[in-house]
Amino acid sequence: MKLETGSGKLVEQQVDTLLVGVPEGNPAGDTADEVNQALDGKLQSALAATGFQGKAGTECVIPTFGQIPAERIVMVGLGEASDVTVDRIRAAWGAGARRARQAGARQIASAPPPSQFGSAGTRAAAEGVRLGLYRHLVYKSEDTNEGDVERIVFTGIDDQEALNAGETLATGVSLARDLVNAPGLDLFPERLAGRAWEMASDFGLECTVYDRAALQEMGAGAIVGVGQGSLREPRLIHLVYRPEGQSLGVAGFVGKAITFDTGGVSLKPPDGMRNMKMDMAGGAAVIGAMRAIAELKPPFTVHGVIAAAENMPSHSSYRPGDVLKTLSGKTVEITNTDAEGRLVLADALTFTARQGAEFMIDLATLTGASVVAVGNSAASLFGTDDALVQDVLQAAEFSGERMWHMPLWDDYRQDLDSDIADIVNSGNRDGGAIKAALFLKEFTHDVPWVHLDIAGPAWSTKEEGYRIKCGTGFGAHTLVTLLEQRAK
Ligand code: BES
Ligand code: MN
Ligand code: ZN
Repeated sequence: MKLETGSGKLVEQQVDTLLVGVPEGNPAGDTADEVNQALDGKLQSALAATGFQGKAGTECVIPTFGQIPAERIVMVGLGEASDVTVDRIRAAWGAGARRARQAGARQIASAPPPSQFGSAGTRAAAEGVRLGLYRHLVYKSEDTNEGDVERIVFTGIDDQEALNAGETLATGVSLARDLVNAPGLDLFPERLAGRAWEMASDFGLECTVYDRAALQEMGAGAIVGVGQGSLREPRLIHLVYRPEGQSLGVAGFVGKAITFDTGGVSLKPPDGMRNMKMDMAGGAAVIGAMRAIAELKPPFTVHGVIAAAENMPSHSSYRPGDVLKTLSGKTVEITNTDAEGRLVLADALTFTARQGAEFMIDLATLTGASVVAVGNSAASLFGTDDALVQDVLQAAEFSGERMWHMPLWDDYRQDLDSDIADIVNSGNRDGGAIKAALFLKEFTHDVPWVHLDIAGPAWSTKEEGYRIKCGTGFGAHTLVTLLEQRAK
């Protein structure tokens, strides 16, 4: 699909569909005025008949009866003009493009998004349409009867650069979605490493993959331990982006990538296991972000570190009572093999700190407790550095990714005391997301750090705005935005 700028009037575009975003209460005014005139006032009467008022999250489709080249107009509500944000633009254009495709659109001309956001608004509209039209069709044997949108022309805009940046960002998020949606049968650690490697060679990133023998040799006993129950051996994936000019700092982005989480010997019940192919969503977000970073070229050195393993029960699995020696040298007594994410992350965080990262952000579908605490649409955010916490929250807000700052209360650490090792991997259920974060904190080596528990928002069961069902790619957008904002 091509996103391009276009000159000339919206109503004269040689396309099949027009896309117009309008504020609440004035659906036939302003941007829609021109269209209304071309239709001799019929837009206004059609809108009155549908009851469409421009509320956020609403759309309607109006036929044009041959009066202009386009067959239909898709109107999308932006809500109260004073409440419009870049994320609302993303959502409106995402839902509008999807509605257009449902109606049969192949070629769309879009009115410009609200001008007060400048190129950020243009970029958001581009992100919205690309993400809203995302589909994962790899496993469909028949084509769906909805075809693909081939082209979207943005009229009244000459900012192709903003459209390209939006497209790049959305392509990174889409890569993360593709990886999350891939079944565990097909996407195991070695394949995930292959996908990361391929992306890295396409975009000029360094990529090193450590296999099981290399991990053992390195001393990454936690990743090896978690992965030893599966025939599909674990991998540590290390991507590096280096800016062409001066580097303003060294970032470390760390992702949990359990390609399938059965719980291991501490087996999950079927309902809890149903969606566990998504347990690599943190790693997927890092890979997607690295792809966008490679193209957007922010002035930072970035290490993307993905800890990949499959958590399986078998004759060779690690078991409760085992003690694993992590890369840091600290020992962990296993109390529950289903608390595997924090183990692979422990090694990945130590590895990243050793690369010279000046700040680290990890993303992980880590605990069901996070979903209980903040629900399905938000990540729990923990951090050891106030400035970094504030920067991530700000980047998340701009990116439309909801995150909530949670406490790292030291006294809860007692619950992780072990009688025979340095720490246990799982305490009791109370405050589970906090205790998981306290566990990770022990492996951050005083590097400023933020932990994002994305167990809720990594997967979606509903379609809304530019968010679609299944893997969401959550987190990738915020990582990219953080670097862009820190560069300013
Ligand atoms: N991958 C799960 C967490 C999860 C749950 C992600 C639901 C997405 C949706 C993680 O490995 C896990 O099993 N966590 C346990 C931790 C417990 C054993 C301390 C949990 O949340 O129950
Ligand atoms: Mn688990
Ligand atoms: Zn898990």
